[in-house]
Amino acid sequence: MSTVLRTEQLNRYLGEGANRVHALCDVDLTAEAGKTYAIVGHSGSGKSTLLYLLGLLDQPDSGTIELAGKQTGQLKDDARTALRNQYLGFVFQFHFLIKEFTTLENITIPMRKLGRWSKEEMADRGMSLLKSVGLEDKYKRLGNELSGGEQQRVAIARALANEPAILLADEPTGNLDQNNADRVFGLLSAISHERGNAFIMVSHNRELAQRCDVVFPMEDGYLKV
Ligand SMILES: Nc1ncnc2c1ncn2[C@@H]1O[C@H](COP(=O)(O)OP(=O)(O)OP(=O)(O)O)[C@@H](O)[C@H]1O
Ligand SMILES: [Mg+2]
Repeated sequence: MSTVLRTEQLNRYLGEGANRVHALCDVDLTAEAGKTYAIVGHSGSGKSTLLYLLGLLDQPDSGTIELAGKQTGQLKDDARTALRNQYLGFVFQFHFLIKEFTTLENITIPMRKLGRWSKEEMADRGMSLLKSVGLEDKYKRLGNELSGGEQQRVAIARALANEPAILLADEPTGNLDQNNADRVFGLLSAISHERGNAFIMVSHNRELAQRCDVVFPMEDGYLKV
């Protein structure tokens, strides 16, 4: 298996003065293609902080993040954004679809940013992604005309639009009932095993976390590997 993501000795401090928190302490994490990972731990243990760093949405105070063989520390903003578009997909607890856009339009946004495909190719790819999440018949619906579980599945399709090597998800099922949570998790994990992307999920749902290949407990900023 190939390593797609590796961190060494990541540290992150948040807040100012008396509120300053050592949110991440010397975190070493390695993720391999095609494997699923769960990060679990109490509220405030640093899970989202870590996921934001892995997603290149925030920067560490010290330590390194290597993504698809590239060191990310010294990159300028536009190079980080390009790397994020090419290699990373992100699913949040709240899906952040654009509600005035159709399902298909929401999914093609990352493809347009990457600029690799023609208009027709983007539409074809969008429809095939919608099919993989079971929503091809709802391609014309607006974001706010879908149920919560459906919106989350559109968000997954959108996160997969550019075939990311790494799919990150912060509480992707936190907002769903047990049936929908099972379905969304099953989809994410099957897709990762089939497509060979690494999938890293933060979850409070112990049962779903245990179904990942690797579980990383987090405690007070430390990742137990
Ligand atoms: N912007 C901020 N300023 C100051 N402290 C922050 C900020 N964001 C987070 N923190 C603190 O950093 C620590 C880690 O927060 P983080 O959001 O990573 O926790 P979490 O494990 O994701 O929790 P939850 O399960 O509740 O989502 C917490 O102590 C939190 O209070
Ligand atoms: Mg969090």
